[in-house]
Amino acid sequence: MIEPQNIDPAKVFDFYPSALPRYTSYPTAPQFKSGVGSSVLETTLENLTEEEPVSIYLHIPFCDRLCWFCGCHTKHTNKYEPIKNYIDSLCDEINLLGRKLNKTVTVSHLHFGGGSPSLIQSKEMRLIKQNLERYFAFDEETEISVEIDPSDATDDFYNAIEALGVTRASIGVQDFDPEVQRLINRTQSFELTEIVVKELRAIGIKSINIDALYGLPKQTNERVESTVQQCISLKPDRMAMFGYAHVPWFKPHQIMIKEDDLPGQNERFEQMQNASRLLVQSGYNSIGIDHFALPNDSLSVAQKKRTLRRNFQGYTTDSAEVMLGLGASSIGRSPSGFMQNTVATNLYQKRIAAGMLASDKGYKLQPVDLYYGALIERLMCDFHVDFASLPFASDERVSESVQLANKFAAADPFQLVKVSGTSLHIPPQAKPFARIVAAQFDQYLKRSTVRFSKVV
Ligand SMILES: C[S@@+](CC[C@H](N)C(=O)[O-])C[C@H]1O[C@@H](n2cnc3c(N)ncnc32)[C@H](O)[C@@H]1O
Ligand code: SF4
Repeated sequence: MIEPQNIDPAKVFDFYPSALPRYTSYPTAPQFKSGVGSSVLETTLENLTEEEPVSIYLHIPFCDRLCWFCGCHTKHTNKYEPIKNYIDSLCDEINLLGRKLNKTVTVSHLHFGGGSPSLIQSKEMRLIKQNLERYFAFDEETEISVEIDPSDATDDFYNAIEALGVTRASIGVQDFDPEVQRLINRTQSFELTEIVVKELRAIGIKSINIDALYGLPKQTNERVESTVQQCISLKPDRMAMFGYAHVPWFKPHQIMIKEDDLPGQNERFEQMQNASRLLVQSGYNSIGIDHFALPNDSLSVAQKKRTLRRNFQGYTTDSAEVMLGLGASSIGRSPSGFMQNTVATNLYQKRIAAGMLASDKGYKLQPVDLYYGALIERLMCDFHVDFASLPFASDERVSESVQLANKFAAADPFQLVKVSGTSLHIPPQAKPFARIVAAQFDQYLKRSTVRFSKVV
């Protein structure tokens, strides 16, 4: 993400669509069809083996505040009862799913996402783990990660995650500037964030990630830089620097953010570049399009070995072929396809209470999807791909990809790619535009009428 000096972003955004998928999956979620998820899940569970570890994603769709920028599936609540009831449903779902497994499967990664899993109290946290342990094996290799809103963290929560054996904590910062915080309805001091980081380290959490945003209302280069400097002073192992996705047609509470306050496309680009420069100067490696990691962090190691992966949570080292998604709106994935649970939390709970699994939408992957999915994933992770080395590569697919790459390169005034034989390379100055390159290989995008978020 550094040294974009040769490419004028304004011209790129004039020439190409400025809003495209983030390619955290391929095909992307708008291609999922109702009713397909349950059969994908059945096939996925049938094909599990004791030798192949799986990863599990658990979604907690509750927060005790509603940040106006938020694009996650969550609901505001000041009471614990709905959360407690929801955890009961989650445990029922674990049992429904577990009873369909006639073997013990090892978990490589367990991720609590949200929403704010930091609202779960220790009693419920233990309940979740106990239910999972009935059907799944956890070992010293299992990574357990949890997303934390620093404003929720209590002693009870620290006890809970210590008992759970959490290995990585991801804390939300977004921006420390008071005016920006007022405009996004999220007050969070640096001091509080610092205390949370210290507490997490004190209970032995080895790896800490911080999320920050650019492109927020009234953000300026100076404000983004100052936030990033403050984050760096906390020495996180990883940082994610996401571009604010303003999608009020999809997340109506975002209308609370005035569009006039939002930085323009070029300002967003500069904010990202400056943040990136600061992080790289401070010793972080730039990972993919929006992550940064210290050299000894496993993300940096995976990037070097070209084993980095990209999934719905962003960049990861998780190489499990199967991810089981539990909770409302969770998306799971396997070589058979994608399966998404019912999105609305009340409907999800009703289905579970009726003894039914909650998969609804889904997508059955065909070999051609697995090929283009791997191509796009390598581009987004390595900025380089050799078509001939991809899974499900056939002469026909490789030559189709070479044609697509050459056609794009010939018409592209910015030299975003270099094509050589069956390989395609995105040079360092073009990395911020990787989504534009990936979109050339998306077999569904032209037929899609869905609106996406800004490329940068
Ligand atoms: C589930 S939330 C974080 C956990 C916790 N609830 C918190 O806010 O601290 C995950 C991350 O998604 C990112 N995010 C949320 N809404 C976004 C949006 N509209 N555009 C880009 N990133 C967004 C934020 O950086 C946020 O920290
Ligand atoms: S950013 Fe985090 S705390 Fe804020 S509403 Fe979204 S999930 Fe909840």
